[in-house]
Amino acid sequence: MKHLLKLGDLSREELLSVLNLADQLKYERRNGIRGEYLKGKKLGMIFQKSSTRTRVSFETGMYELGGYALFLSNRDLQIGRGEPVQDTARVLSRYLDGVMIRTFEQKEVEDFAKYGSIPVINGLTDYCHPCQVLADLMTVRERKGTFRDLKLCFIGDGNNMANSLMVGSVKTGMRFSIACPKGYEPDRALTEWASAEGDVLVTRDVMEAAKDADVIYTDVWASMGQEEERTLRINAFRGYQVNAEVMRAAKKDAIVLHCLPAHRGEEITADVFEEHAEEIFEEAENRLHAQKAVLCKLLK
Ligand code: CP
Ligand code: NVA
Repeated sequence: MKHLLKLGDLSREELLSVLNLADQLKYERRNGIRGEYLKGKKLGMIFQKSSTRTRVSFETGMYELGGYALFLSNRDLQIGRGEPVQDTARVLSRYLDGVMIRTFEQKEVEDFAKYGSIPVINGLTDYCHPCQVLADLMTVRERKGTFRDLKLCFIGDGNNMANSLMVGSVKTGMRFSIACPKGYEPDRALTEWASAEGDVLVTRDVMEAAKDADVIYTDVWASMGQEEERTLRINAFRGYQVNAEVMRAAKKDAIVLHCLPAHRGEEITADVFEEHAEEIFEEAENRLHAQKAVLCKLLK
């Protein structure tokens, strides 16, 4: 494992090994064992979009591992004034031990890895969000004890979250279903790959997708960078909401996950959100453990 640019880059074994290490690091933290596995290592964190969880979990994660994290916003970096990523990558590679990037185009993350010489971690692009899905898979296994015979259902926009969840489900052997409006399907090439490798359903029908699901997942209707499409999207996604009726279609003991931030009354009702808050905030906590595991694998 050299980088984490997208989940598809990890073999099933590598993915499970990250999750196992994440469980161990969570246990150690809960029991006051401080493992400074990355003592003296430096991580750059480039943010071209807002963040609460990703920024704070990476920064505290590096601190807890004995390393140091630098927050680099595109408002301050020369990248924001047009310095090419190829040059930024070659410069930062001489100062840092690794870099995490949150940006728009997947190509930017791939280019950084191509031109730089340090590990690159994708902290969200328009295409995917691998760090989030590692935490999600960790949460599913914690709650359900296994991935075997599980069905994960995503309701909403087929973009970064849905793409990564589809790959993560297939890699761990879960069935995956997505209900989305026409024109908002997940990436076509990824869907073809996932359908050949696993059990995947893409439908317009929310109830069909949610039927007997063990995990119900949703995400905002308008992602970062799509603010201008907000009204259009609110209209397009009406009906694609996780609510009590959808939960009745899922298994009785189904869990609800949300990457956050959440918009109550849009993709999820306030009632369902609060009923499942325990799972959702554990999922948010697991970002820290899962990313510490990724950092250990890549930077040690
Ligand atoms: N889920 C997630 O990535 O949250 P942030 O945008 O707050 O980092
Ligand atoms: N789809 C959302 C995920 C946020 C974590 C976005 O890209 O804004």
